[in-house]
Amino acid sequence: SSSSPPPSSSSSPPSASHFIGRKEDIVKTGRVTKLVNGCRDVLVLYHQGQLHAMDMRCYHSGGALQYGDIEEFNGRACIVCPWHKYKITLAEGEGLYQAVDDPTARPLRTHWRSKGVKQRIHKVTEVNGDVYVTLNNSSEAIESDVYQTEKYRAVLLPA
Ligand code: FES
Repeated sequence: SSSSPPPSSSSSPPSASHFIGRKEDIVKTGRVTKLVNGCRDVLVLYHQGQLHAMDMRCYHSGGALQYGDIEEFNGRACIVCPWHKYKITLAEGEGLYQAVDDPTARPLRTHWRSKGVKQRIHKVTEVNGDVYVTLNNSSEAIESDVYQTEKYRAVLLPA
C-alpha cells in the first residue's frame, strides 16, 4: 500500500533471512529492535519510505541507537546517537564528522566528512508486507562488532 517500491521484488524471503515484523507495524513506530539469529541485536528503521537495518549499539561506545533522532547532514539521513551525538548514515553505516579545513580562517568553515563505515549495516527484504533481515556476515571487522557480545546484551541501555 506504500508508493515506494519494496527493497526486494522476490516473492519469498531470501534464505538465511530472519523475520523482523510486519512492515505496517514498523512504519507505525518508525523503529524496532530484535535479537536476530540469537546472536546479533539489530535496529530496523523506517525513514522516508525506506527500511534500514544496522547494529543496535553505537560503534563509539555502545550507545542505544534505538533512542536516537534521525536527521540529515550533508543530504544524508543519519541516526544521531543519544549518548554523544555521533552521526551514522542509515544507508551505509558511515560515521560523519565536521572537519575544519583551515583552523586559522575566521569564521571557521566546517565540512561534513566521512570516517568510513563504522556501523555494520544489514540487508532488509520485504515480502508481502513482512520484513526480513539478512545479517551482513562479511568477515571484515566493523567497529560496531565490538558491542555485539553477551556482556553488552546483558546490559539494559538507558536512552
Ligand atoms: Fe558515543 Fe554513540 S556511544 S556517540
